[in-house]
Amino acid sequence: MTYLPNPTRYRDMQYRRCGSSGLKLPVLSLGLWHNFGGVNNFENGRAMVRTAFDLGVTHFDLANNYGPPPGSAEENFGSILQKDFSGYRDELIISSKAGYTMWEGPYGDWGSKKYLVSSLDQSLRRMKLDYVDIFYHHRPDPETPLEETMSALDLIVRQGKALYVGISNYAAPEAARAIAILNNLGTPCLIHQPKYSMFERWVEGGLLDVLGKEGVGCIPFSPLAQGLLTDKYLHGIPADSRVVTSGQFLNESHITPANVEKAAKLNAIAVKRGQKLAQMALSWLLKDERITSVLIGASKPEQITDSVGCMHNITFSETELAEIEAILAV
Ligand SMILES: NC(=O)c1ccc[n+]([C@@H]2O[C@H](COP(=O)([O-])OP(=O)(O)OC[C@H]3O[C@@H](n4cnc5c(N)ncnc54)[C@H](OP(=O)(O)O)[C@@H]3O)[C@@H](O)[C@H]2O)c1
Repeated sequence: MTYLPNPTRYRDMQYRRCGSSGLKLPVLSLGLWHNFGGVNNFENGRAMVRTAFDLGVTHFDLANNYGPPPGSAEENFGSILQKDFSGYRDELIISSKAGYTMWEGPYGDWGSKKYLVSSLDQSLRRMKLDYVDIFYHHRPDPETPLEETMSALDLIVRQGKALYVGISNYAAPEAARAIAILNNLGTPCLIHQPKYSMFERWVEGGLLDVLGKEGVGCIPFSPLAQGLLTDKYLHGIPADSRVVTSGQFLNESHITPANVEKAAKLNAIAVKRGQKLAQMALSWLLKDERITSVLIGASKPEQITDSVGCMHNITFSETELAEIEAILAV
């Protein structure tokens, strides 16, 4: 059936400026790492993209290797764009990345100019796009000179294949260096994509300060710790959870009594705030103005609706923050 986007989609969503750039992003963005691959149900993925867009989520995050198999999430997203969004390209912010293993041989991994330029060309072909809005270097490369990797990003923008560039998984000092090199090249770093959640807080040890000072946006990934920061594992491991359906990056070893106990205690605070735990975990990140958007994943359209509901309460009392700190500190 022909998809007609919700006409009121921009009414309730909040948008934040990405660092000191001209670009605004929705406070929640949708990532296609899991549940959009060739092994997954295409119609479910399509329904999730539609649901997100209907709620004002304009930003969709991909990478060359998302699947499985690698590349299939971009292929499926390209099909969804053609089927449902052909008239809406200018309302979408689409990102992709390269940095992890994508193809065999010395040119299909890490951070050389050869790899980044070829990989983006492949991503554009898979998504049937002329350009992506944001192209990231997915992880730092200890061997390639940072100048080469950053000049590849600069080249890609000058070629018109990406409008903006970003970095992901860079620690504070290497992020600061990358930002400085990009500034010198005249292609400012738009955004950094780090792993950040209540359960994983390394960015608070310097990275957020660098990004705030340099006017670079921040889009935390796995803000729900892949589902640990929801109420789904409080009473066992459901059959439709990531632990069972994928098991690659989140498995039974992560569902420890300590993690479940923390989630149960956090859930009690969330309930008092009138939120679900998933919503509180997202609000807790958004309380910091340096966070441009939180990059959620989902396995069902309802989860997206649920998570977007976090926007209605992103302030915390001092008491709530102290209670949360006490739980996380254990
Ligand atoms: N740059 C990088 O290196 C990097 C690495 C990882 C991810 N990412 C990006 O970040 C995105 C998000 O990562 P993620 O999927 O790990 O994020 P996440 O939001 O922490 O976890 C998503 C999972 O949590 C569960 N969930 C989501 N909303 C829920 C809700 N409202 N209630 C209950 N459960 C809910 C679902 O799990 P079930 O399947 O169990 O239902 C869903 O698949 C990725 O798609 C990707 O774009 C980037």
